[in-house]
Amino acid sequence: MKLSNNKIFITGGATGIGLGLTERFIKEDNIVLICGRRESALKAVTANYPTVITYVCDLSKAEERERLYQLISTEHPDLNVLINNAGIQQDLSITDSDFYQQAKEELAINIEAPMHLTSLFGNMGSLTTIMNVSSGLAFAPMSRMPVYCASKAFIHSFTLSLRHVLKPRNIEVIEIIPPALNTDLGGVGKHDYATPVEEFMHAVFDQLKDLKTEISYGFSEGMLHSGPEGLQKAFERMNPVT
Ligand SMILES: NC(=O)c1ccc[n+]([C@@H]2O[C@H](COP(=O)([O-])OP(=O)(O)OC[C@H]3O[C@@H](n4cnc5c(N)ncnc54)[C@H](OP(=O)(O)O)[C@@H]3O)[C@@H](O)[C@H]2O)c1
Repeated sequence: MKLSNNKIFITGGATGIGLGLTERFIKEDNIVLICGRRESALKAVTANYPTVITYVCDLSKAEERERLYQLISTEHPDLNVLINNAGIQQDLSITDSDFYQQAKEELAINIEAPMHLTSLFGNMGSLTTIMNVSSGLAFAPMSRMPVYCASKAFIHSFTLSLRHVLKPRNIEVIEIIPPALNTDLGGVGKHDYATPVEEFMHAVFDQLKDLKTEISYGFSEGMLHSGPEGLQKAFERMNPVT
């Protein structure tokens, strides 16, 4: 994709990886729209970047996704990039009494939202690029977060299909495959050990400049290019038998 002069909608663009993308795309001369549930997080972004356009929205709800699409497509008919970034990560056990309810909530934001937004924004004739954020865990799961990892495997597979079917319409489909990064994903402090978002953003933009459509780094680069034996070893490393 071209890196400047786009109008870009980033879900979950106020924090973590989404914020990293917001900041860098602003720096590269783009107009950026973001959404999230917390107005306070959105306001913190506009305090630093007054040109960012914000929407409070709970993307786990279909009617809110439709309302948001109506609003953005009316106010910004020239929007050309959709970035499906928002997501949650939960440690879940199949024996938890609320497992099914929690799993459904995770699937609503991690799968239903990007799928629905893609079909809605795909109606805009102006759309040139869709970017989906998956994970290195799409390729081999950590069993303590089974629904999260499966949701990212879905996003990887769905993105492969989208890239193929949208090619005749000249819509480019990019997958960002992050390794573990230091954000608040899964709860404050859970990812403190991980790679800083800024470091990952340098790698992302270098690869976008090189016109790569599968963007990985460190651990996720290894996972993306692993064969079955490598993936089995990664699975065993991440899921020690206790
Ligand atoms: N950090 C990592 O190690 C890592 C690794 C691989 C992939 N990823 C992926 O990267 C993406 C971004 O995560 P992150 O690490 O940057 O964590 P994060 O800082 O927690 O970001 C998640 C963002 O999604 C928004 N969000 C969550 N649920 C939402 C909902 N129902 N409606 C609207 N917005 C919602 C959050 O805003 P509100 O809470 O205000 O709604 C937040 O801005 C996720 O898809 C994640 O799976 C992260």
